[in-house]
Amino acid sequence: MPAAPGDPPPLLALEDIVKDYPSGAGSFRALHGVGMTVRPGEFLAIMGPSGSGKSTLMNIIGALDTPTAGRFRFDGEDISALSEPALARLRNRAIGFVFQQFNLLPRLTARANVALPLVYAGVPARERLARADALLARVGLADRTGSRPAQLSGGQQQRVAIARALAVGPRLLLADEPTGALDTRTGAEILGLFKALNREAGVTVILVTHDPGVAAATDRVIRIQDGRILHDGPPTPDALAGGAGHHYAAVAP
Ligand SMILES: Nc1ncnc2c1ncn2[C@@H]1O[C@H](COP(=O)(O)OP(=O)(O)OP(=O)(O)O)[C@@H](O)[C@H]1O
Ligand SMILES: [Mg+2]
Repeated sequence: MPAAPGDPPPLLALEDIVKDYPSGAGSFRALHGVGMTVRPGEFLAIMGPSGSGKSTLMNIIGALDTPTAGRFRFDGEDISALSEPALARLRNRAIGFVFQQFNLLPRLTARANVALPLVYAGVPARERLARADALLARVGLADRTGSRPAQLSGGQQQRVAIARALAVGPRLLLADEPTGALDTRTGAEILGLFKALNREAGVTVILVTHDPGVAAATDRVIRIQDGRILHDGPPTPDALAGGAGHHYAAVAP
């Protein structure tokens, strides 16, 4: 979508991003010059076959990894060449991460898991716990604050993980296959929660999914293959199916 006068500046601006991984004696190019712009408040899905570069792209967007070449601006600031400590500060204040396998600490209660990022942010203990309880209420778990992950269902664990990702008040929520470990109905509930956070709190949400049903609930689908963007636009049936007559259709079961 072309920028119109009065649009807010982009939250993310990637230009010609290349990512090479060392491989044997040489290197493997996982991203071949990816460009994309994401505005504050967008809700978008990244789709593509296994090995196409989705997680590689998410790691760069999430400031977990740096590109080999190209330019990445986060909220106007060029972060392509920041040091690891500077990237860590950006992550800790501005980005929330949600994973397929929830990644909660098993010995900690839901409340302590959610409060953990606030320890690193230097928030005093009493306030941490109050904020954790408020976030758990926000995701529908007001009555499970004292439960450990093993005492919770998969969907409940993912809600705790989302509350944890929200703890620092991030501008951006990144989720790599957040419904991949859940049954269809629970996945739909988690998707609804992301949508509500996007619509009500204005959090920018980017999720990676293999599921066209999940991508259909977003406003924009970016499809990548072999490290290149093949499609970027609204979640039309054609976009979700991989495009009429497109090579992607050949790899679907
Ligand atoms: N640390 C690494 N070292 C070397 N190669 C890597 C590394 N990480 C990823 N790759 C390669 O880069 C390519 C893209 O990987 P990536 O993990 O981004 O794919 P993906 O789209 O997330 O796949 P999936 O759907 O299976 O999660 C793959 O060919 C992968 O083997
Ligand atoms: Mg991946």
